[in-house]
Amino acid sequence: MKSTDFIDYYNKVYSKPYDSSRWDPIYQEVGSHLYGRKILELGCGVGPLCQFRNDWKDYVGVDISEAGIKGARNDFPDLTFHLIDIEKPFLYPDYDIIVCIEVFEHVDFKRVISHLNPVEIIFSLPNYASHSHLWFPAGTKELHRAFDPLIDFDIIHTLEVNEVKKIWTCKGVIKG
Ligand SMILES: C[S@@+](CC[C@H](N)C(=O)[O-])C[C@H]1O[C@@H](n2cnc3c(N)ncnc32)[C@H](O)[C@@H]1O
Repeated sequence: MKSTDFIDYYNKVYSKPYDSSRWDPIYQEVGSHLYGRKILELGCGVGPLCQFRNDWKDYVGVDISEAGIKGARNDFPDLTFHLIDIEKPFLYPDYDIIVCIEVFEHVDFKRVISHLNPVEIIFSLPNYASHSHLWFPAGTKELHRAFDPLIDFDIIHTLEVNEVKKIWTCKGVIKG
């Protein structure tokens, strides 16, 4: 999928009511690590994680989809959202933890991580293909092979979508 097709795809997805409830166990797990933190969320979409906020110190969500950012601003008017392409360098706000849920399979994750400060990160990834996935780690070996050079991390949660499909949630620190 070309990146312009990808933006159109997500603009269409977010132009209709978006039901993210199947991913609630991921948001709950991620949310439980964010108390009192200054959060930068990459690829926030319409902001479903924000339903689970719990005394966050600060939060900024960024996404490349205009419809996603519009929906997030509408549902969470007290939080900050920016229309940004995370594959390009940009001036990130002050943050002490990065969250990135179901995004690294859609982008050049090495390039994205190269723009980030060496802080804590929580990210999730599926182990299965989809037309919008550029790449996916089929097993934990592939997951570690891809991210070990960039992040010291452990898997903290596994969502079994069905007998074969899984989503791993990982927590670690970006290597400086
Ligand atoms: C599977 S969705 C996940 C959205 C959100 N994290 C959630 O849990 O619903 C992937 C998101 O990544 C965003 N995205 C993809 N490429 C991007 C890029 N280069 N810069 C910023 N956001 C991007 C898409 O617009 C989309 O909102």
